[in-house]
Amino acid sequence: MNGIVAPSLLSADFADLRTELLQIEQTRAEWIHLDVMDGHFVPNITFGPPLVKSIRKNTKLFLDTHLMISDPAKYAPEFAKAGSDLITFHSEVCDNSQELVKIIDNIKKLNKKAGLSIKPMTPVSEIAEVLNLLDLVLVMTVEPGFGGQKFMHDAAEKIREIRELAPNIDIQVDGGINAETANIAANLGANVLVAGSYVFGDESYDHAVSQIAQALESSGFPVI
Ligand code: DX5
Ligand code: ZN
Repeated sequence: MNGIVAPSLLSADFADLRTELLQIEQTRAEWIHLDVMDGHFVPNITFGPPLVKSIRKNTKLFLDTHLMISDPAKYAPEFAKAGSDLITFHSEVCDNSQELVKIIDNIKKLNKKAGLSIKPMTPVSEIAEVLNLLDLVLVMTVEPGFGGQKFMHDAAEKIREIRELAPNIDIQVDGGINAETANIAANLGANVLVAGSYVFGDESYDHAVSQIAQALESSGFPVI
């Protein structure tokens, strides 16, 4: 299973996104992580499909779209149309497994990869029934809403549990990833690592991405 580094655009310079994307393309990162927030599911607002559409026109990077919104069913088609490659939504917006299945199926019908995310306090049991339908599970290691928070070790323990239940699924970790916590997450079985402030806060994005890639590789996830 390959390792993937996904810098989070949330910490980039929004007034100069084209340059930021170009610089990320020059690193070993294959994905760009796009944090969509609606001011309702999380206490912050970022951007929507129009910006994703502009990003799509300016990069070949895989568009990893993290929907922190209360109504992913309504907006998934718009993100698909805008050019998202992977659409990840939060399990907490659904009341039961049937609702989860419905949204996952909708994303797949749009010919996009489907991801499901859990907040730090949400147990794996909430998503266990639908794991076999997913391309990716996103384990949040901070409360969603803002970049630059501290990695929650207790939340990361869920990675091991998911890896045991679904040996072949992509497991992504988001929140507080740096060179040190990347090693912890990869060791527990995560093969896709998101990093916002750590990458965009480094004067060399290439250096920061390489550090994370090395952590993945030392846990047996080769980064192409
Ligand atoms: C937080 C977002 C993250 C954020 C991570 O709600 O989902 O993707 O950008 O930022 P860092 O890497 O700074 O914790
Ligand atoms: Zn995110």
